[in-house]
Amino acid sequence: MSRTPDPTHGFVRSVSRSLAACELLHLARQKFDLARARQQHAAYVRALEDAGVHVTVLPEEPDLPDAVFVEDTAVMLDELAVLGRLGLASRAREGELIASEIERVRKLFFIQAPAKLEGGDVLRVGKTLFVGRSTRTNQTGIDQLREITAPFGYSVIAVGVTGCLHLKTGATAPAPGLILVNPAWIDVAAFRGREVLSVPETEPWGANVLPVNDQVLVAASSPGMAEILKARGLNVRSLEISELQKAEAGLTCLSLLYSERSEPPGPRC
Ligand code: GLY
Repeated sequence: MSRTPDPTHGFVRSVSRSLAACELLHLARQKFDLARARQQHAAYVRALEDAGVHVTVLPEEPDLPDAVFVEDTAVMLDELAVLGRLGLASRAREGELIASEIERVRKLFFIQAPAKLEGGDVLRVGKTLFVGRSTRTNQTGIDQLREITAPFGYSVIAVGVTGCLHLKTGATAPAPGLILVNPAWIDVAAFRGREVLSVPETEPWGANVLPVNDQVLVAASSPGMAEILKARGLNVRSLEISELQKAEAGLTCLSLLYSERSEPPGPRC
């Protein structure tokens, strides 16, 4: 089973002043503290840098409340990137705003209408892409991703998502061979043959962790998950992202990470 390369670089985007108008699917709208959201975002960037990631901070998009969630715009792979088609009108421009940045570092492929695909629905494990079939990613999007990435040796497995926004809201891969999951939200059958660890019942959001090189970032709201991962020998760093979680976000949504390669290989013939 091939490993997912450790990230060396990443994009983030500063928190928009209009964050309070963000999209919400399952959460009730709460009052946002923008200054606190920006402090938490800055601490997140420092955590990535501490873990050895070179971070490019893109400017705030004042009129795009959810643009801070850059992960949703694209799927970064070793040899290519795929620009998503975000499923909501309010987020539709986010892809085109980051495309030129991505094109500097990867050959860029595009998801075409009527397909919808958001990066938050794509969990990479080695050369396997688990893709959530959610309110934001449809079967046509999954099929197009499969067609684009197959020549580069990737396989795509669709995963049923209900009860949460994206696949990675409820499933991530914190270490080789290990999948964390909230089975109330994610159809675990897709992960057959792998070790699957369920979140503590009291921490439904606990599966959204972010492995970065030798560390695993875990939201401060999931202390039980942090303890479980520590007990497995993982180097856990807890991060407070409460203001961003009000926007139905997790640690993964806040960055688009990739591994720099000097000579990306071409597609296999
Ligand atoms: N607030 C994150 C999203 O709904 O896209």
